[in-house]
Amino acid sequence: MSSCHKAYITTPIYYVNDIAHIGHAYTTIIADTLARYSRMTGLETFFLTGTDEHGQKIEESAKARGKSAQEYADEISATFRNLWDDFGISYDKFIRTTDADHMKGVQKAFKVMYDNGDIYKDVYKGHYCISCETFFPEIQLVDGEFCPECGKPTTVVEEESYFFRLSAYEEKLLKWYEENPECILPKSKRNEVIRFVEGGLEDLSITRTSFDWGVKLPEELNDPKHVMYVWLDALMNYVTALGYGTDEAKMDFWPARIQLIGKDILRFHAIYWPAFLMSLGLEMPKHIAAHGWWTRDGEKMSKSKGNVINPKEVADAYGLDNFRYFMLREVPFGGDGDFSQKALIDRINSDLGNDLGNLLNRLIGMSGKYFEGKVDSGNVSKYYQAELDEVEASLEKLEPLLFEMQIHRYLEELWRPLTVANKAIDKYQPWTLMKEGREEEAMALNGLIAAILAKVSVMLSPVMPEICSKIASALHFTIDNASWNHLCKAKGVLETFTIEKIPPLFPRIEEPLLVQATPEDVPAKSKKETKKAEKQETKKEKQKEEGVALIGIDQFFQTSLKVGTVIKAEEVPKSKKLLLLQVDLGEEAPRQIVAGIKEWYSAEEMLNTQVCVVANLKPAKLMGYKSEGMLLAAKDEDGLCMIRPEKPKKPGTPIG
Ligand code: MSP
Repeated sequence: MSSCHKAYITTPIYYVNDIAHIGHAYTTIIADTLARYSRMTGLETFFLTGTDEHGQKIEESAKARGKSAQEYADEISATFRNLWDDFGISYDKFIRTTDADHMKGVQKAFKVMYDNGDIYKDVYKGHYCISCETFFPEIQLVDGEFCPECGKPTTVVEEESYFFRLSAYEEKLLKWYEENPECILPKSKRNEVIRFVEGGLEDLSITRTSFDWGVKLPEELNDPKHVMYVWLDALMNYVTALGYGTDEAKMDFWPARIQLIGKDILRFHAIYWPAFLMSLGLEMPKHIAAHGWWTRDGEKMSKSKGNVINPKEVADAYGLDNFRYFMLREVPFGGDGDFSQKALIDRINSDLGNDLGNLLNRLIGMSGKYFEGKVDSGNVSKYYQAELDEVEASLEKLEPLLFEMQIHRYLEELWRPLTVANKAIDKYQPWTLMKEGREEEAMALNGLIAAILAKVSVMLSPVMPEICSKIASALHFTIDNASWNHLCKAKGVLETFTIEKIPPLFPRIEEPLLVQATPEDVPAKSKKETKKAEKQETKKEKQKEEGVALIGIDQFFQTSLKVGTVIKAEEVPKSKKLLLLQVDLGEEAPRQIVAGIKEWYSAEEMLNTQVCVVANLKPAKLMGYKSEGMLLAAKDEDGLCMIRPEKPKKPGTPIG
């Protein structure tokens, strides 16, 4: 079993029905940061990521594209792997659930659970959401039909199925949560899980017979029509990656030190996964850490809204390390975060440029001006022990913060030494020291600043590896286990060296660098942007004067028009004009649309009818209700009528 010299860190494995967005990048970057930190501090580290490739959802996505499931999975899995390689993600293994040894390991696990009496055969009757790959009892459904998680219609399933005796693990799970207050982080999430389990657990259906794309049952069971439930298959990756059921050489990395997940998949990881492990006689992971959800300018990201952030584009435009810093610093772990270019630019200009970059520039300037670039730390503690103590006090707090998943606090605390350094320059004024002939003190001040920069760049390197190694090379050292030991663990300072002049690390950013910019992205004082907006306004005015302007077909296609079905309709209280509609556009969740049609249509008349929707309008608020689209209607002196498809069409069918 894993000793304290080993650290096993995992991300969820990503579904191959979509390409990576910033949500996926966030999980992976946090895990990469933890893995880099572990390695730097001398722990034997194994960092796992990969792709989740089986299940009905993937089978259907592949079919829709005219590909075999394997072909499709190969293609998308490679896009994830390429992105992580591009980002320098330091994974030790990239697992795919279609790997032969993974599938063998899952079959072995099934057999062990079957043999110990935890699996039995029965008939499953209930509802299944293909999009969430989750079974729901009728009582949880919205309006008796729709998935409580994503809002899509569920399918009624009645089929022979093997079940896992989850109910038998209720007490044991509660005991585990009780005895390990930090098993689920943040702690608020642990309480959520406890409440859920206390509400009672039903046995879990773990095989399906209505599709084929999955791991078959172990041959001994002689039941070829069943494939395994995708979540059983997927969760097992965390141990099959270490060789469970095949070559078990790496199993001594188990139990995992940290398993990172998003809050949406907490139930699977905090209930099913530990129960499976208990059944297999394996240890529990040390921590399951659930992060929050990223939105874009306050909106859920989705392909249909066209507001999905491509992490590669952000990293290319703003710098990979800056993007990493932003994601980890901006949001308290566990909370939801909003991506806007403005927030990113502010972090780069302020924290990185003003505090960190500027300090290095000051040191380059001071040492160049007074000592021909030489920095000698010999007398730092003679003159600046108080400052050193303050710095060390901050550094000591860091490691616990990181492993309690308080990464934003880690970075906040790591900025204190930079403040100490900047303040020391302002207070002791090297130019005054030099004027007064106190050269030794001035040199020691340079030594202090260099030592602080060195310590900070070592501790920041897991988050910003490339930038920190540039700072280190300007200061003539390398970031590794030895320098971490000397500078951080043993509280040492740097050897004498001559500083390297390097170009500014964080040139100021004045305006958004991505085309997808929205008004929220514009930094406070961007004159260029204001001018551009004014120009556009004048152009609009002109168009008004000249009547309706002609547009090209490209411009027309910028509007996304779709057929939708009204699945819920009600009046907006206190409004004469507005109806509040939930419209199914074939997306994960229905869209809420506030429509000014009440004078012509009642809520009952709208219910279950089809409408035409402008699907990529920026959301707006009407009488306090968010509206995520607009209905097409025609209005003249006789009143208003809806524009509808002539024949019923599937929700989400494009118009145009
Ligand atoms: N395949 C399952 C996980 C199986 S693990 C045994 C899965 N895959 S996923 O691709 O849908 O999601 C993977 C991770 O990405 C989840 O942790 C999820 O929380 C995260 N995110 C997906 N969208 C996200 C945001 N918009 N913001 C933050 N993270 C989000 O679930």
